[in-house]
Amino acid sequence: MAESIRVLIPEKDVAARIEEMGRQISEDYEGKQVHLICVLKGGVFFMCELAKKINVPVSLDFMSVSSYGDGTASNGVVRIVKDLDESLEGKDVLVVEDIIDSGRTLSYLLEILEKRKPKSMRLCTLLDKPDRRVRDVKVDYVGFEIPDEFVVGYGLDYAQKYRNLPYIGIVDGIE
Ligand code: IMP
Ligand code: MG
Repeated sequence: MAESIRVLIPEKDVAARIEEMGRQISEDYEGKQVHLICVLKGGVFFMCELAKKINVPVSLDFMSVSSYGDGTASNGVVRIVKDLDESLEGKDVLVVEDIIDSGRTLSYLLEILEKRKPKSMRLCTLLDKPDRRVRDVKVDYVGFEIPDEFVVGYGLDYAQKYRNLPYIGIVDGIE
């Protein structure tokens, strides 16, 4: 069967939810500066949209991790491919992810980042697949809980494709 994409969350629903999340984060961080950490590449579309909806001072940094695994699942071994440019010490850090699946990537990452002594650290994800969790991670802000399906768009890829889709879709026709 050829690959095809079915819309799971339309563009306007994603935009509306990100706006709500931005409002919530702005309230929660009132009087503070929030230091957003984008986990590349998947988190970049979400982080840009979210940052525009936050009305407290924002700073940004980026990191890239790679999990050794096949195209659709991580195996728990994570490597930092690109580290942050700035120190986290004393900062109110908000880690921005595209999706939390097994939770392996994030639990590893949060462990590393905690050691860098941020003043506070929270986690924000556009999508959450709670059924797939094998590692317990405390997620502070969730855009949408989704069923156990492989999704693409809004930063999420399948074999590096589809990141630019402006909605969340399910890929049909893959193994
Ligand atoms: P985890 O370590 O299993 O939580 O997986 C985290 C990473 O796997 C995410 O940051 C994504 O890069 C990737 N991933 C998990 N589920 C999906 C999906 O449905 N579509 C695209 N990428 C996914
Ligand atoms: Mg990711």
